[in-house]
Amino acid sequence: MKKLLFVAFLAGFTTQALATEIPEGMGVLPSAVPVPADNPQTAAKVELGKKLYFEPALSKSGQFSCNSCHNLGTWGVDNQKFSIGHKWQRGGRNAPTVLNSAFWSKQFWDGRAPLLEDQAKGPPMNPVEMAMDSEANVIKRLTAAGYDAEFSTVFGKNSMNYDNMAKAIAAFERTLITPNAPFDKFVQGKGDISKAAKRGMLKVAEVGCTSCHAGPLFTSNDFAEFQYGTDTGVKSVSGKAGDDHVFRVQSWRNVAMTAPYFHDGSAATLSEAVETMGEVQLGIKLPKKDVADIVAFLETLTGEAPQVVFPVLPRPSGKALDWKD
Ligand code: HEC
Ligand code: HEC
Repeated sequence: MKKLLFVAFLAGFTTQALATEIPEGMGVLPSAVPVPADNPQTAAKVELGKKLYFEPALSKSGQFSCNSCHNLGTWGVDNQKFSIGHKWQRGGRNAPTVLNSAFWSKQFWDGRAPLLEDQAKGPPMNPVEMAMDSEANVIKRLTAAGYDAEFSTVFGKNSMNYDNMAKAIAAFERTLITPNAPFDKFVQGKGDISKAAKRGMLKVAEVGCTSCHAGPLFTSNDFAEFQYGTDTGVKSVSGKAGDDHVFRVQSWRNVAMTAPYFHDGSAATLSEAVETMGEVQLGIKLPKKDVADIVAFLETLTGEAPQVVFPVLPRPSGKALDWKD
């Protein structure tokens, strides 16, 4: 009798000793995204948004869609330092992923668009991206392609306009979330992560990475100074000296799949990005082993990519669209 009790005690003790405590703040990716009151999600709107997301008619050349630079087959990015847009031009910033972007309270590296609805109006007009000359011409294109009926179904009669186009795209983007990362399963007690990943998890909290890469999204959803490179970040928008080299804290969700890193795509590998963060943000030189452990942890934040069925786009029967380049 006594012996049995002793064994039970030992077993209990061992389990406790092995259990790794999850640092405060870390947690499972939320299952619901914030939705603005004036743009409720509906299945028909999401479907229209999906078509527009894959629609090359939004670009002057008829060649570039949102998916060209934010390829949903490659984790919402193009894995290029700078994306290729109109007439083979390259912009000055790396394309962030659209996956989980519905969770960010600031869009772009400099956070200049608060909502996905604001963001989606940018690319068609951007001269190095889709290069359309006016919003009216974007709508003309969509009319010629045959989108009228679908806009009516989703937004009511005579509703085809630039704002509604952006609303539909944003609604689609709100479906692009990546649940069930190995880390999430670990937190829920449904799976385990490697010892190296556990060490990395504790290390990022210990050295202070998670003061900025905070919470279940691994971003404070706010700005932080990053004295690195020539891009002045928020200052390039606000003109204020205090905003010099201030950038939005980038999330760690799926970060292992979205190389190269930083707003200028200058870090080719995740280990390089981690080393630089240690040096620039925390003033420490992380030992190689810690870098490897942190990378192992970041790799556990790769979720399940959304399964997106490629849409059939509206097109006029028997004639080509008029691509005026
Ligand atoms: C030619 C490449 C290109 C095309 C086409 C393009 N984008 Fe982007 N996208 C970028 C780049 C580069 C950035 C970052 C720009 C910056 O921060 O200043 C960006 C930023 C974004 C962001 C912000 C994500 C974040 O985490 O801040 C979203 C969302 C987005 N694009 C969606 C779209 C949508 C929707 C379309 C189609 C209407 C589109 N993009 C077309 C290159 C492109
Ligand atoms: C003071 C706030 C702060 C701290 C502390 C911090 N970061 Fe960052 N992190 C940022 C910001 C801001 C960015 C966006 C940088 C940019 O504009 O290129 C970023 C970007 C990154 C990226 C690149 C993401 C991408 O998609 O390009 C990685 C990886 C990263 N951080 C890891 C870490 C690690 C690991 C630590 C701790 C060793 C750390 N960070 C500490 C603010 C911080």
